[in-house]
Amino acid sequence: MIPCDAMDLLLTNLSIATMAGPDYGVVDDAAIAIEGGRIAWLGPLADLPGIEATERRSLGGRWVTPALIDCHTHLVFAGDRSGEFERRLRGESYEDIARAGGGIMSTVRATRRASADELYAAALPRVLALQAEGTGTIEIKSGYGLDIDSELKMLSVARRLGEASGATIRTTLLAAHTVPPEFADDPDGYVDLICDELLPEVVAGRLADAVDAYCESIAFSTSQVARVFARATELGLPVKLHADQLSDSGGAALAAGFGALSADHLEYASADGVRSMARAGAVAVLLPGAFLTLGEKQVPPVDSLRGAGVPMAVASDCNPGTSPICSIRNAMMLAARLFRLTPEECLAGATREAARALGLDDRGTVEVGKRADLAIWEIGHPRELAYWLGTPQLAELLTDGHTTAP
Ligand code: NIG
Ligand code: FE
Repeated sequence: MIPCDAMDLLLTNLSIATMAGPDYGVVDDAAIAIEGGRIAWLGPLADLPGIEATERRSLGGRWVTPALIDCHTHLVFAGDRSGEFERRLRGESYEDIARAGGGIMSTVRATRRASADELYAAALPRVLALQAEGTGTIEIKSGYGLDIDSELKMLSVARRLGEASGATIRTTLLAAHTVPPEFADDPDGYVDLICDELLPEVVAGRLADAVDAYCESIAFSTSQVARVFARATELGLPVKLHADQLSDSGGAALAAGFGALSADHLEYASADGVRSMARAGAVAVLLPGAFLTLGEKQVPPVDSLRGAGVPMAVASDCNPGTSPICSIRNAMMLAARLFRLTPEECLAGATREAARALGLDDRGTVEVGKRADLAIWEIGHPRELAYWLGTPQLAELLTDGHTTAP
């Protein structure tokens, strides 16, 4: 127990899925004491020591889990790509639409035109939707600006969303998302711009917590990504990678070689890539919303990842092109149904392993000393969280010990 005179909040009459041990780390008939935004005590109510608390609440038998963490989103954007979805349903491929100037570039044009206030107003409901289903921490990537001012604008909007919502927002620079038209004939010149000008400015303004890139034939080669990652590492920022989504581009091994926090997507990751990730301790972030929306056929190598002991996170990938899904709960159910993760892996993937994919060791489980980021649910068992689709079951979200939603 954290030593203190009196607790801020004592929760009783609840079951906990701590996600800190096998079988969801369940503690039944439990109590949780919160002090200074941290979990100060938890365990069976019968073992509760005499505790003074400013506020005491009975949760009426409800379940408590770590607050959910969406560790991969692109939720700051302008414009609409539902027309591209119609084209893809008629048979055009994502790559063909991208090569014809649509895809990511379509969102870049709209995002460049939008003011910071317009981007903020469009993104806030997406943050609130994630909070309303129990999400306490959200990662947001740039990558729809692709010039210095527009990338900085996106990251600033993401920071502002954190200040306004009470959610923890982790920002990621994804300037290496696709080559902007100004550099169509000189992609390496764009990589130079990222390394020499944008990254130092982002670091000086403390605007990003990590650096991401898209390694794919329609985006950046392994050697271009390696340059961006080397510079990010030099400047002290951790890296993560959109890897092996549409083809085996050697992305998983590349990310592992740089000690990446995570490699994300991974549908086409090779056996060698999986082994490298296991050695490097990189998290596999699985994004079933993109798999579903693109009508992909090849699932990520979940059995190999599991067998090699690679931690698996699950995220929404909320974006207007490949994953119009602003819901981590839906991503959890899709990961179970489409990728055959167990419901327990899905919940770990949206809590404990998602925290790890963001390099955050102060959350993701319910344990003494961790942040009091807790989701309180109207459910009969935590496996239901990867079972119901589009069904609100959140009773309350606490972040830092304070009610954030509903
Ligand atoms: O995670 N793969 C690249 N990036 C996004 C898609 C972005 C877009 O199409 O707008 C993804 O799927
Ligand atoms: Fe993505």
